[in-house]
Amino acid sequence: MFLSNYLWSVKDGVPEWYAVALVSGWALINNDAVATYSWRERQGYTLMSEDAKATAATRLLAGAYKLSTAQDNIDYYRDFAKIYDEQFADGMGYMYPQVLVSAYRSYAKPDDLPVLDIGCGTGLVGAMLELPSDQIDGVDVSQEMLDAAQQKSIYGTLHRVDLTTDAADVPTRYGAVVSAGTFTFGHLGPEVLPQLLSLGRQSTLYCIGVNSEHFGQQGFSTVLDAMVQAGQISAPVFEERRIYQTSASEHADDTATILIYRKLTD
Ligand SMILES: C[S@@+](CC[C@H](N)C(=O)[O-])C[C@H]1O[C@@H](n2cnc3c(N)ncnc32)[C@H](O)[C@@H]1O
Repeated sequence: MFLSNYLWSVKDGVPEWYAVALVSGWALINNDAVATYSWRERQGYTLMSEDAKATAATRLLAGAYKLSTAQDNIDYYRDFAKIYDEQFADGMGYMYPQVLVSAYRSYAKPDDLPVLDIGCGTGLVGAMLELPSDQIDGVDVSQEMLDAAQQKSIYGTLHRVDLTTDAADVPTRYGAVVSAGTFTFGHLGPEVLPQLLSLGRQSTLYCIGVNSEHFGQQGFSTVLDAMVQAGQISAPVFEERRIYQTSASEHADDTATILIYRKLTD
């Protein structure tokens, strides 16, 4: 914020919006872009072109892809939470929650409830599901992302859980388990899939979105094959969907592979 305050104090003769846009642009293109998000920066953000917004959002995504551990995620999303919806989701034209929920609706039966949202973040998937709050819970490792979701009053219970260790504190017997944006670079890998089974009952529907490149690189097929061979899940259906609407990002053509299967054992 030092540069922000400096510019603010010397902007005599400079149109106010220009100084604001400059500060905001500076904040967004730095690695600690998410450290603060003041009213002034929000005003500056709204003045940016669509291409500049996509560029800023792409940098936020690049930062997320560089994460490695659960603690990295906790640290990164602490500040990202404040700007996630506006500067990442809107900036990229993020439509992953919509496509995930569309897949869920294609396969769900009326009694595939309640739903558990894995890596629920600020609650974009929950918002798309439009369920009564007693029919949807969420889990996430970031308290700040959970706080952002809580403010929307979408979920019944939000659990702070590191899914790379265990989910023992999360209630079981959900009718559906869904996820968007969390099985991707720097976040969760295929080794987490088997432990998600403990959260469901027999026939629970799983709709798990996985970044398609991550899917190919991280051996998701091997883990899924083993679960099928062990009689734990039905043969998965794979649906490939675009993640972003923007054309102004190197990630414009990224896709998600949505894994759809049912738990076979109880
Ligand atoms: C890209 S966001 C997706 C959020 C939301 N599902 C959406 O589509 O907007 C990824 C989320 O995964 C969560 N996450 C990352 N690592 C995790 C872990 N080990 N356990 C639980 N959640 C994790 C992050 O905190 C973050 O909220």
